[in-house]
Amino acid sequence: MKKLLIFLSTAFAVSSVMAAKMPMPSDMPKSYEAECASCHMAYPPGLLSEKSWQNVMSGLTKHFGTDASIDEKDKIEITNWLKRNAATKQKYSELAPENRITKTSWFIREHEEIKADVWKRPSIKSPANCGACHTTAAEGIFSEKGLKVPAK
Ligand code: HEC
Ligand code: HEC
Repeated sequence: MKKLLIFLSTAFAVSSVMAAKMPMPSDMPKSYEAECASCHMAYPPGLLSEKSWQNVMSGLTKHFGTDASIDEKDKIEITNWLKRNAATKQKYSELAPENRITKTSWFIREHEEIKADVWKRPSIKSPANCGACHTTAAEGIFSEKGLKVPAK
């Protein structure tokens, strides 16, 4: 019994360090896919804190140099869903600078080995383009297994 407990606690510790999983909650409203996934991927809500999502959704008319405004009904639905499913683990729940996942300290730390010119490769273009390297990003899986940094 003791051995089993040691095994279980080790397995748990390893998995929580290695596997960064922010699965897309199954109650995702259709409006999220329609309104928030045409210019970039549908970011899993677990990537930002509640306050940061609130800030993103309050500023859609000036959204990273573009106008991403939507009708009030969709806005309320998406905002509530994002906030309900926002990051809870302390590591991911900091207030994101410029409302960007890619400016959080955890993001910068996890990607510090990537050189500046890699981000600019034509098939990547931006750190916000998660799916260019994380082939399983759409499912919210960012572990090494799904990782393939394109050479060009
Ligand atoms: C008209 C196009 C467009 C639409 C629609 C749009 N976005 Fe964006 N979004 C952008 C652009 C452009 C960026 C900046 C991307 C970059 O830096 O590469 C961005 C960036 C973001 C980021 C920050 C990414 C980072 O750098 O960490 C978040 C979060 C985000 N969008 C959420 C949303 C949400 C939520 C919606 C739906 C309400 C939405 N977006 C709809 C164009 C759009
Ligand atoms: C240029 C390719 C590239 C892009 C684009 C990219 N990443 Fe990564 N990501 C990496 C690499 C390389 C690592 C480090 C993997 C390692 O050391 O295990 C990593 C690590 C991570 C980790 C930690 C994984 C773990 O298991 O601990 C998370 C979480 C993550 N990325 C999320 C994101 C998100 C979210 C985006 C988009 C907003 C993104 N990444 C964009 C290449 C990329």
